[in-house]
Amino acid sequence: MKAGDLKIPRHVAVIMDGNGRWAKKRLMPRTFGHKAGMDAMIAMARKAKAMGVEYLTVYALSTENFARPKEEIEGLFDLIRRYFTKNVKDLYAEGAAVRVIGDVSVLPDDVRKLIADGVAGSPADARFFVVLALNYGARAEIVRAANAAASSGDGVGEEEFGKLLYTADMPDPDLIIRTGGELRLSNFLLWQAAYAELYFTDVLFPDFDGRQFEKAIESFSRRNRRFGRV
Ligand code: FPP
Repeated sequence: MKAGDLKIPRHVAVIMDGNGRWAKKRLMPRTFGHKAGMDAMIAMARKAKAMGVEYLTVYALSTENFARPKEEIEGLFDLIRRYFTKNVKDLYAEGAAVRVIGDVSVLPDDVRKLIADGVAGSPADARFFVVLALNYGARAEIVRAANAAASSGDGVGEEEFGKLLYTADMPDPDLIIRTGGELRLSNFLLWQAAYAELYFTDVLFPDFDGRQFEKAIESFSRRNRRFGRV
């Protein structure tokens, strides 16, 4: 497909699965796979921006991931401690902003501060947003919004309900990619995914490079999105 024929989704969301298996194949600890995954994530952000995507939401840590062995979770926090600030500054320099969705209140204080600083320091005029889903779970997000709607007294419609979600001022994802071979959404953006196109690949996330991202966009381009109409 020629570059000019591509339809570019405004919002791409990615379930970055397969870091652990990628490391295991190399007889390395899972944390080694997460480091490779982080590098792939940064490269993917550059590629998405270069292609004209506006929002890239990445499932960096689900609420359920917190049940993993402490060593692995600490490994992920250490990645944030060591690389987050530098990566974020590089992204700023390229005109990108960082946002977070999820309940970050459970993260260690120092990690939470790094992330808050990363969000607060983002350029105000950014046209590209990397949205990190951290301790994110869609059901918890929906319940939180439902409680907010209930306490407001009057019933709310779909549009108002959407404004109570973490993604309030973002467009819904047009394309959701899952790497690593599983065919499910795993509690990711359940409300927002209503009309998203889904793309699944067996490629393990650390191997999901620019060419792989292009293939997902090409697949999206070939789809006929009808939003329930004919
Ligand atoms: C799923 O692979 C991936 C994760 C649970 C974490 C994703 C994290 C990154 C890409 C690194 C950047 C994020 C942070 C927080 C710095 P898996 O471990 O479930 O792989 P497996 O299915 O092969 O076991």
